[in-house]
Amino acid sequence: MSQEDPLAWARDYCPILRSFQADHGDDRPLEDTTVAVATHLEAKSGVLIETLHAAGAEVLFAPSEPQSTHGDVVDALDAVDGITAFAWEGMSDEEFDEQQHALLEEEPDFILDDGCELISKVHAEHPDVAETVIGGGEQTTAGVTRVEAMEAEGILQFPVYTVNDTPMKHYFDNVHGTGESALTNVAMTTNTILSGKDVVVAGYGYCGRGVARKARGMGAQTIVTEVDPRKALEAHMDGHRVMSMGEAASAGDLFITTTGNRDVIREEHFEAMADGAQVANAGHFDVEIVVDDLAGLAEEVTEPKAGITRYHLADGRRINVLADGRLVNLTGPYSQGHPAEVIDMTHSMMFIAAYDLIVENTDLEPGAYAIPDRLDRAVAERKLETLDVEIDGLTESQREYMTDWEHEESAF
Ligand code: NAI
Repeated sequence: MSQEDPLAWARDYCPILRSFQADHGDDRPLEDTTVAVATHLEAKSGVLIETLHAAGAEVLFAPSEPQSTHGDVVDALDAVDGITAFAWEGMSDEEFDEQQHALLEEEPDFILDDGCELISKVHAEHPDVAETVIGGGEQTTAGVTRVEAMEAEGILQFPVYTVNDTPMKHYFDNVHGTGESALTNVAMTTNTILSGKDVVVAGYGYCGRGVARKARGMGAQTIVTEVDPRKALEAHMDGHRVMSMGEAASAGDLFITTTGNRDVIREEHFEAMADGAQVANAGHFDVEIVVDDLAGLAEEVTEPKAGITRYHLADGRRINVLADGRLVNLTGPYSQGHPAEVIDMTHSMMFIAAYDLIVENTDLEPGAYAIPDRLDRAVAERKLETLDVEIDGLTESQREYMTDWEHEESAF
């Protein structure tokens, strides 16, 4: 039995990206363009990188998180002429930073980013390069917030598509991708049951909604914490219990943060947790759970199982942190990120963002821009085609009815 290449399986489940490879393999519209990609470096990102390369681009890539890199994928891509890695598995935080800077020193024309890593660094520390960048795309909620902050401060030097905010991304990737992959990885890492557990989900945005709904679907009793009154009400009306983290801390068996914010679970909450509590982050980087607070309370720290750090408190309670408080679905020992079919949609939006700003929409002023609806619909249509799903079109009379604001032939 022979080994397939490390992208083979992911490629099978990325039909939209494969359709772009087929469409643009001959005309190579990204020829003469160097595209920088910062993302979680695993097989599905590899399919995005090879799609950009198939469309003619030279691709430079670096991780957006030091611990989520899959070395076999990096090696396979780096071996391709016209694709260069600034990454390896097991990088330290310092090496991660150094390699992102090394990539930027190669003066890419376009940046596809995850978490505003390269876009912020190019502005802060490589201003000459920022002046020559044509444009960018940002994939995550937290990254878009940063891009918009840069725009508000008037320092953004090039147009950036806020890919996260387009429906084809966040309706599916954040809700279903994060929901399924976070819970799968918690279950795999702990090898314990979700059914019957009290699961506390911090944040009821797109990711939190997905995690909470799917946890309930697996039989958990769900508690949601929020800071936005409308999101809290939505969670309440969706049937979850809503409370403050101060109250939830003593009620939960498993805690999953999805806020994009820092210091969500901290000392006062660890003080209240029950023995055996499991704590994981599926939101932003490693800032949502203040692991240092827990370390400060602990008398001993052990590793009961790969991917779990157990903090033994003086009163005998043990609190278990998964994946060191980093993204549980991307950095744990079993983590493979989102399901491939969902990332196919996200990465197709990233590809089309690059294609549109490099080839079609070349006159945009610097700023943060929503992906045009025509592009979002086009990718949705391609996805439906790959599923062999047909939908209705509007009839002429329906179209007229919808735009006839006077309703001259009203039934009333
Ligand atoms: P969102 O903005 O829709 O939701 C975040 C929610 O958290 C909001 O409702 C907000 O009110 C709430 N929140 C903020 N601070 C809070 C606090 N201290 N306590 C409780 N709730 C709080 O954002 P979305 O799309 O759900 O993304 C959340 C985070 O997840 C972002 O950092 C995003 O980049 C990240 N993300 C992670 C993925 C993964 O693979 N793990 C995939 C997609 C996004």
